[in-house]
Amino acid sequence: MTLSFTHRFVPATALGRPPLLLLHGTGGDENDLLPLGQTIAPGAALLSPRGRVLENGMPRFFRRFAEGVFDEADVRARAAELAGFVAEARGAYGIEAPLAVGFSNGANIAAAMMLLHPEALAGAVLLRAMVPLSEPPPADLSGKRVLILSGSMDPIVPAENAERLAGMLERAGAAVQHQVLPSGHGLSQADIRLITQWQP
Ligand code: MLT
Repeated sequence: MTLSFTHRFVPATALGRPPLLLLHGTGGDENDLLPLGQTIAPGAALLSPRGRVLENGMPRFFRRFAEGVFDEADVRARAAELAGFVAEARGAYGIEAPLAVGFSNGANIAAAMMLLHPEALAGAVLLRAMVPLSEPPPADLSGKRVLILSGSMDPIVPAENAERLAGMLERAGAAVQHQVLPSGHGLSQADIRLITQWQP
């Protein structure tokens, strides 16, 4: 189906699992996280858009000035676009509000969506995420669950930054679980195990 984002949609084959909104990292595309989605939530519907910003040909979900230095006006505009896409896709495919599962740049836009458009998401799994906005507006995230998995050797995300993000979401009322793994920016089997354990 043609919607505002190029995307893949995999319909549910099992009942009772929330759909996943899969958000890839810089240079990824809509195919990247489908295997992860199938592993962590077998049978769940999967909605996987491709970021519409290009950085030297690499798809992303928002612009940045440098690594870790974000164009926050663009973060806000793109989070609104992506929330609009989720609403479109919910109507087109008849799915509930999804649980976002984002990696790196995808985790950062998922965090921005939680803060700016909480109604768009049921919750979020944020893999190697950073604070996306220095001064987010007040949000009510009560009833939403968030899992943040960081890497103690991540050269891109400082430990203090991931902790700040966890605090920000917690203060907004989300039930946040933040764990730091002995890994770098890349994902590992431990991530998959922890996501699987965290899910209801
Ligand atoms: C970002 O730009 O969102 C972060 O630096 C993560 C990345 O994409 O490398």
